[in-house]
Amino acid sequence: MTSEEAKKRINELRTVIRRHDKKYYVDDDPEISDYEYDKLMRELIDLEKSFPQLVTQDSPTQRVGGEPIQGFVTIKHTLPMLSLANTYSEHELREFDERTRKLAGRGDIEYVVELKIDGVAVNLRYEQGVLKLGTTRGDGFSGDDVTGNLRTVRSVPLRIGDGREAPELVEVRGEIYFPKKEFVELNRKREEEGEKLFANPRNAAAGSLKLLDPRLVGERPLRLYVYLLVNALELGIDTQIDALAFMKGLGLRVNPNVKLANGIDEVVEYSRKWEEARTRLDYEIDGMVIKVNSLALQKELGETAKSPRWGIAYKFTTKEATTRLTDIIVQVGRTGAITPVAVLEPVELLGTTITRATLHNEDEIKRKDIRKGDWVVIEKGGEVIPKVVRALKNRRTGKEEPFSMPQSCPSCGSEVVRSEEEVAVRCENVACPGQLQRRIEHFASRQAMDIEGLGESTVFLLISEELLKDYGDIYYLKKDKLKELEKKGEKSADNLLKAIEDSTNASLARLVFALGIRHVGWSAARDIAGEFDSIDAISKAETSDLMKVPGVGLEIAGSIVRFFGDPRTKRVIEKLRKAGVRMEEKTERRKTPLSGKTFVLTGTLKSFTREEAAEKIVSLGGRVSSSVGKKTDFVVAGESPGSKYSKAAELGIKIMSEEEFKKLSSH
Ligand code: IVH
Repeated sequence: MTSEEAKKRINELRTVIRRHDKKYYVDDDPEISDYEYDKLMRELIDLEKSFPQLVTQDSPTQRVGGEPIQGFVTIKHTLPMLSLANTYSEHELREFDERTRKLAGRGDIEYVVELKIDGVAVNLRYEQGVLKLGTTRGDGFSGDDVTGNLRTVRSVPLRIGDGREAPELVEVRGEIYFPKKEFVELNRKREEEGEKLFANPRNAAAGSLKLLDPRLVGERPLRLYVYLLVNALELGIDTQIDALAFMKGLGLRVNPNVKLANGIDEVVEYSRKWEEARTRLDYEIDGMVIKVNSLALQKELGETAKSPRWGIAYKFTTKEATTRLTDIIVQVGRTGAITPVAVLEPVELLGTTITRATLHNEDEIKRKDIRKGDWVVIEKGGEVIPKVVRALKNRRTGKEEPFSMPQSCPSCGSEVVRSEEEVAVRCENVACPGQLQRRIEHFASRQAMDIEGLGESTVFLLISEELLKDYGDIYYLKKDKLKELEKKGEKSADNLLKAIEDSTNASLARLVFALGIRHVGWSAARDIAGEFDSIDAISKAETSDLMKVPGVGLEIAGSIVRFFGDPRTKRVIEKLRKAGVRMEEKTERRKTPLSGKTFVLTGTLKSFTREEAAEKIVSLGGRVSSSVGKKTDFVVAGESPGSKYSKAAELGIKIMSEEEFKKLSSH
C-alpha cells in the first residue's frame, strides 16, 4: 500500500470510528457490535504502525494513555471558573428570581433549568476542532492541565464538528463524573485489593482525574457532560438553550434533561420533579442549576467576586448515605450508659465525613438485625450524630457477624447492669474512669466551660495520673505536675492554666450545662439559668418549681433534684465554689423588648455565633426555641437561612434581620 492509499484509508477509518464513538459514548445509541468496532480499530492501529508519519493527535487511536508524568502544570484560565451560589429551599429560589427581575427591570424571566451533575468541573479548549487543552477548576483562576487524562475519557471528543468545519475556537465547561454502578464496582475491586475506598462517586472522579498515569485513568469509566459554552457570544449564539444545542451539534455530550422555563414557577416544578426522580439516573446529581436564558441579560447581570448573578444552584438536601459498617464497639458515657457505636467506612453526608454512628442500644440492633460487616444506610436527622437506619440485607455475603452486648464495662471491667424500666445497659461503678473521662470532657467542652487544651488525650493522662477524680479537681491542677505530663511543656501548661482560670467566669447557663445532669441538654440548661439566679437557687428548687420553666418536664426536673440531692454533687460544687467559679448571675428583671418573647435563630449571623445570640436573648429575658411554631414571636434570620425561614413566612411570624435584632437587643 502506498502512503497515499494509506492516508485515504486512514481518513476513512477515522471518520467511521469517530461516528461510532459518538453514537456509543455521546448519544448512548450504538449502531454496531463491539466486534465490528474492534475490527475497524485494529485496522487503523496497524496502518498507523506501518505509516507512523500519518499519526495525528486527534486520531481515535490516541486515547490510550500516554506516559506517566511527574506532576501537573498549572494553567491560568482565560476566564475565571466561578462557582454558583447555593440555595436550599424554594423560598430562596424565589428570592433569586425576585432579585434577578429587579436587576433586569422586567417581569417574567426565561430560565434554563439543568441537572447539577455531581462530579468535577473541567474546561476544554478546542482549536480548529481539535482538543488542545483540558484543565481542572483549581482555585478558579488557574487549574491543572489534565489534557492527557481527559483524552482517555471516551465521551470527551478529541475532535468536534463531525466532518463539518468547526469554529476556530470553541471553549466549553462541563462535569466529569463517575457513574453510580461503576463506582460500586470500583470500590468492590479496591476492597479486594486492600486499597482505600472512595467515599462517593465525586471523590472517585476527582481522584481518577488526578492520577499521574493516564493509562490508569483510561481504565476508569469516567464520563463527561458539558453545560457551558464559554465563547458563545463570539460565536453568534445568544441564549443558553441555543448554546446547549450548538454544543450537541458539534458532537459534545449534553445532558438531555433540560427545561426552558418561563418564570420561576416552572423552575420550581421541574426541580421538584427531579428531586423525586433522581434515584432513577445512573449518575448522581446533587441539585439543579438555574440559568438566565438570554446571554445578553447574563452579561448585563454580571457577577460578584465569587459567583455570577445570572445563575444559581438549587441543592437537594441528602439526609441518607450508604456505607460499610466495619465494627461495632461499645462506649461508656458520662452517666454510665453503655452504648454500642457503629464504626463506618468514611462516607460523606451533608458536607461532613462520617466515620461513626450511634446504634442506641442492643435491642435496637437486634430489631434492625444489624451485623458487623453489613452495608448500612445512615441518616442525619435533627441531631448532629448520624444514626444507622437499616442494613442492606441483599448485599450480605454470609460473613457478617451478629452483635451481643459485653457483660462487663469496657472501661473498668465491672459487671454491667440492665434495669427493668430502660433498655440501656449501665456501668454503676461511680469510680469508673471511662465515665469520669466523658464527664470531664463534657465539662470542659466548648459549649460548656470552654476550657481549651483539656481534650480527650489530656483528660486521659490526668485521670491516669490520678490528678483528676472529678471536675472540681480541674481548678486545683498545679503547673509543675502539668509540665511533667507527656509532651506538655511550660507554655502549654501555662495556656491550660489560663484557660481554666478564664472559665471561672463562664455564664450560669454554661455551668449548669457543664455539670452533666442527666437529661439536661444545652437548651434546658439555658432556660433554667434564665429563671434562677444561682446554682444555690437551682439546688434548693423543688420539682414543681423547676417545672415552671418552659421546656422542663417531670423527667428533667426529677433528674435535677436527684443530682443536687447526691452528697457527691455537694462536695464537687463546694470545690468549684472555693476555686472561685462563678455560681450566680443576675438575669435582667427589668422589662426589655425581649422579655417573655420566644425567638428562633436561623442562618449564619455575622457578628455572633448562634450560641452567643442565644445567650444574649436569654440574658435579656427572652427564650430561644429550636423550631418555629405558633408560640414563636420572632425569627432572626442570618445569611443562607434554612427551612425555618419559609415556615415563619408561612405562619406570618415576624422575621428579623441581624441588624434589627442588634437594635432590639441594645435597648
Ligand atoms: S454552570 C459559574 N451547569 O456545579 C459556574 N454547573 O457551582 C457555572 N455543575 O462548579 C456552572 N452541573 O462543577 C453548571 N449543569 C450545570 C452543572 C454545573 C454541575 C457544577 C459545576 C460548578 C458547580 C456550581
